[in-house]
Amino acid sequence: MLSTEQSPMRVAQDVKENLCDIQGGLLKEYDTLACRYVFFRIDEAGKGRAWLKALSDKVTSQAQADEGPLEDGSLNVALSVWGLQALGLPQAVIDSFPKAFRDGMRVRSAKLGDVGPSAPEHWEGKLGSDEIHVFVCLSHDSVAACDEQHKRLTALTRAFGGVTEVHVVEAEVVFEQRSGCPAAHFGFVDPISQPAIAGFDDEARPGDGALQSGGGWRSIKPGEFLLGYENELGERTDTPGPPGLGDNGSFLVFRKAYQDVAGFRAYLKQGAMTLWGSDEEAQQEKLAAKIVGRWRSGCPLALSPDQDDPALAADPQRVNDFDYSDDAEGAKCPLGAHLRRTNPRGTKLTTTTDINRKRILRRGLEYGQPLPEGAADDGVDRGQAGVFVIADIELQFEFIQAEWLGKGDFIGLPTDEKDPLVGANGDGGQFTVPGADMPFLFDLKQFVTVRGGEYFFAPGLAALKGIAEGRFQTGETK
Ligand code: HEM
Repeated sequence: MLSTEQSPMRVAQDVKENLCDIQGGLLKEYDTLACRYVFFRIDEAGKGRAWLKALSDKVTSQAQADEGPLEDGSLNVALSVWGLQALGLPQAVIDSFPKAFRDGMRVRSAKLGDVGPSAPEHWEGKLGSDEIHVFVCLSHDSVAACDEQHKRLTALTRAFGGVTEVHVVEAEVVFEQRSGCPAAHFGFVDPISQPAIAGFDDEARPGDGALQSGGGWRSIKPGEFLLGYENELGERTDTPGPPGLGDNGSFLVFRKAYQDVAGFRAYLKQGAMTLWGSDEEAQQEKLAAKIVGRWRSGCPLALSPDQDDPALAADPQRVNDFDYSDDAEGAKCPLGAHLRRTNPRGTKLTTTTDINRKRILRRGLEYGQPLPEGAADDGVDRGQAGVFVIADIELQFEFIQAEWLGKGDFIGLPTDEKDPLVGANGDGGQFTVPGADMPFLFDLKQFVTVRGGEYFFAPGLAALKGIAEGRFQTGETK
């Protein structure tokens, strides 16, 4: 029997004291230019634990990350359900993890809308298979520096044996051409909006946290991202396993998503012609902004609906400070725009949803080289190597993916209207653009295809060491 005795609920004031146990890169993204995501299979539990023990000594904590640039880059570790099994954790401990995590992403694919070309049978390498056990994230200033980190990791892995590298994804920062800011391959500054976490970044910009009923913003309770902390219900977010295993941990979603940049650019012409009877560049850019909810500079449509305003985009006090409350019909920012779906802020929803419990921290970088402007499709694989940090895979990531990105009725659109940027469109994909001369597109293409992914548990540093040392091996009370 597993003990139900758990550590007491931690609250916002406890976050700072625990930064030396919380893995770096979760609460705050690293200020680095390149990442290397390396996936391992554990072939022998004992050797795997010894390797993990050596690795755990090298894991970067948030406290270390806060001290400034890390000469050797950063290293972080997360484990899939298959990894926990391969490391020898008993079934009782495995069973204490949430079902979504135990299922893994492949089993949840239909719910996530990963169908057609995004279906698991098309996923690359071993992604989504039970051979993906350990996710190591290396992060540094350049691809060359990541190469060196990767070599050191390979040498360490060889020295221990019993562990095999099964997949690698190389990712780096891509820049939006005009602003020079980090961007998505589609050409939009990204990320801009991230939830502010109480106790960690209380000095956040307006718009980063939760909208307060009397106006203004407050940070989101840490239990929405960290296990064992107070969440938006005022309750302790459940931790799996025996006492200590879940403390200061988070769940991670890794998701590799191809972006059809040439297809997106070509569609802007076609769609602009349908909506406004013109495929002039200004109309194409307007459609691009309507799809995302921001102009390419990051300027939100909610604040500047008719033209891009790079000065507004560059102003931290304004770039995220909007709530859609003066735009119920979506005349400024369509109800179905990617931004409005993924964080509806003050939008009146048709289904009751506690939107402050649907926030996610977006990490990860882009993979593949950018397609130069004006260039023909070069067939290169490029897209987002997305890493999402949450405390509840089902409530947060899966809900957003299935309900907000995969449907329309929650916000007053037709049920089958999906996210115009990342939804599984094509074959009658629809997008409602209020205010356009012809306010509907009925031929939206699929611009994003999932190439694979997995759910992971990123333990606190002490718990990671505990797993490596076999401390949670018994499945008994302590
Ligand atoms: C290839 C896939 C994707 C691309 C290219 C993409 C692109 C973007 C862009 C350009 C923005 C606006 C910048 C910002 O406000 O930070 C954005 C915002 C956002 N995206 Fe995505 N995205 C992708 C997938 C996803 C997925 C799968 C999710 C969730 C499951 C998601 C959740 C969000 C959220 C929460 C925001 C911020 C909304 C806000 O706070 O106002 N995105 N994305």
